[in-house]
Amino acid sequence: MNKRIYVFSGSGNSLYLAKKIAGSVGECEIVGVGKDTVIALDGVEMVGFVFPTHYCAAPKIVKDKLRALVGADVGSASGMKASLTEVRAEEKSEVSGDVEGKVESGCQMAVADSVVSECVESECVDSEGAVNECVVSDGVEGESVVSGAVNKCVVGEGSVVIEPKPYVFVLATCGGFAGNAVSGVVEILAEKGVKVDFGLGVKMVANAVTHYDLKSKGAIAKKLAKADKNIDKIAEQIRGKESNKTKKQIAFLKKMNAKWEQKVGNFAKDYVVSDDCVACGGCVNICPTRNIQLKAVESNKGEQVEGGTAARQKPVFGEDCQACLACLHNCSKSAINYQTKTQKRGRYRHPQIAISELVAINKTVS
Ligand SMILES: Cc1cc2nc3c(=O)[nH]c(=O)nc-3n(C[C@H](O)[C@H](O)[C@H](O)COP(=O)(O)O)c2cc1C
Ligand code: SF4
Ligand code: SF4
Repeated sequence: MNKRIYVFSGSGNSLYLAKKIAGSVGECEIVGVGKDTVIALDGVEMVGFVFPTHYCAAPKIVKDKLRALVGADVGSASGMKASLTEVRAEEKSEVSGDVEGKVESGCQMAVADSVVSECVESECVDSEGAVNECVVSDGVEGESVVSGAVNKCVVGEGSVVIEPKPYVFVLATCGGFAGNAVSGVVEILAEKGVKVDFGLGVKMVANAVTHYDLKSKGAIAKKLAKADKNIDKIAEQIRGKESNKTKKQIAFLKKMNAKWEQKVGNFAKDYVVSDDCVACGGCVNICPTRNIQLKAVESNKGEQVEGGTAARQKPVFGEDCQACLACLHNCSKSAINYQTKTQKRGRYRHPQIAISELVAINKTVS
């Protein structure tokens, strides 16, 4: 198969969307984004990234895995001329500016470690040898542009050439507002020299019962029917390899999301497991980051019972949570709750997605 969709999904919306697109384009594999996933684009003619919006951005794991993408693998089967590292090294000698000794290069394609650079020209990565001007930021959330610090980055000999370049699309499902979810991923991929052809936020059903209650069943069915019409159209556009222009990131949403990302790993620390839990291990299997273990515990805090014979098994949560809510929504006993907020709230999984499908893409069972 030479088409691939990487998907992350907690309650099935994004998986449903990915399946619909895969069905439309044909010959397309769906790969889950989980703890062990390595994103590689070798030899694919089409690649998509489909995920939910979390706090107006892509889930942290999706961004982290994309940052780990090796740029040199893009299109390497037929024309990658140099590794990104080599390109960086070459550009380093051609860059004219330096900001407080921190900035090694100003081009988004040549981002030095821990330096965030924003390119004024979206087409900075240019295989034609074009010279683009980049404004170099100071690395703080990419928003405080250092005044007057303009670097020129020359992209020429030995630059990343992708021939044929894969058709790349990015779809962020959301409850109503995708914010920077698409644009953030577009920027990360641009840093890797991968231009996104098509990106959209796709309104489905809001699943964050940790924050609000679900809509009524009727309202959910209506929303999904509306989403389906939109999805059919999007699937058609992607099949025809259409392109669109994605917006830039909104700075204050970026800031808000950065705060969220600082604490998301510990999100599950606020889960409490009720005595309805039957220790089936379902949550363990569905967690994309292997953040859940069944242990003999005596309290909801997960403390071990020392030699306690009366201890029962319960899920205990670690510090690698993505707040995807897969465990909470898919427990057959609704035994997982967030603080005291979700006990009376409903649970949601896209009606056409089975638990086994989510388990399969999250691949936590070895
Ligand atoms: C932690 C969290 C944060 C969310 N933030 C947003 C948001 O900022 N905007 C939005 O429209 N929906 C938001 N949602 C809703 C999801 O993006 C939406 O329901 C998505 O389709 C779920 O996809 P999935 O079932 O594939 O996980 C959030 C959901 C979660 C769990
Ligand atoms: S919390 Fe739910 S899914 Fe997890 S082990 Fe208990 S019953 Fe099974
Ligand atoms: S612990 Fe639950 S919410 Fe956190 S990543 Fe695992 S399945 Fe998702």
